[in-house]
Amino acid sequence: MSVVPKIGSGKITVPDLLRRKASAADSQAQKITCLTAYDYPAARLLDEAGVDVILVGDSLGMVVLGHENTLPVTMEEMLHHARAVRRGTKRALLVADMPFGAYHGDIAESVRNAVRFVKEAGVEAVKLEGGERRLEWIARLTEAEIPVMGHVGLTPQSVNAFGGYRVQGKTPDAAGQLLRDARAVEAAGAFAVVLEAIPRELAAQITRELRIPTIGIGAGPGCDGQILVLHDLLGLTFGPTPKFARQYANVGEIISSVAREYCADVRSGVFPAERESYHMPETRTGLTPVNIDVELEN
Ligand code: KIV
Repeated sequence: MSVVPKIGSGKITVPDLLRRKASAADSQAQKITCLTAYDYPAARLLDEAGVDVILVGDSLGMVVLGHENTLPVTMEEMLHHARAVRRGTKRALLVADMPFGAYHGDIAESVRNAVRFVKEAGVEAVKLEGGERRLEWIARLTEAEIPVMGHVGLTPQSVNAFGGYRVQGKTPDAAGQLLRDARAVEAAGAFAVVLEAIPRELAAQITRELRIPTIGIGAGPGCDGQILVLHDLLGLTFGPTPKFARQYANVGEIISSVAREYCADVRSGVFPAERESYHMPETRTGLTPVNIDVELEN
């Protein structure tokens, strides 16, 4: 190493998040804030607003690409969006979801896929779904110096196995399995774990037991941090949103009304008006063509 990285620049790193968990007992530890982003403008706005972790989630498939579930999302699609998000993210820790199929077979192939996220999109960590069954994958990626965020509970890539999207861990047996899953993810070397759609009491217990931060989504207030899908927050989804999501704005309605207003203005001739039009320069009267490349603002 020839250059010592600047410490204290505010950049969020994996060790920072682990330190926050370690100091959680001091009661004043700040909760970890996480949101998803899929493009440059959203990433930039979230980053500048102080979000700690930006996840390029494979929820991309549903909220941006219009699929019914996350299963069709490909490595190429994830890389394409992760690169855009990278360009808008400076302070937050950037994590990308390994899509379904990218870590379900040969482990060496899974490591190659994760390495692509780091090399081609500049992500700082990957997330993958599953507990005890994914132990070996998490361990191998961690050994390859790729930080891993785990994800247990309602794992959307298991929708066919679960037979739908259902709250997990509600019976004593299921709760016990979830606890084992969370412990396995930690033991394999993950630096954090997402707990999705599980009873808040169970999430609080897992949070107390683990040394790594828990990030809840539909897992109650006892987790070390929270994550939501950005489009749920913005009201930019179609159809019912999960009970655990809170809608802070209705951007979908704003977009519809702006589009309706624009169409009406174009049809009635109100747009474009004088202030949105160009004129021939006064010094060049007559029909001399104007080079619009250099005169866009006049
Ligand atoms: O894909 C996703 O957006 C996620 C989060 C909601 C946890 O996995």
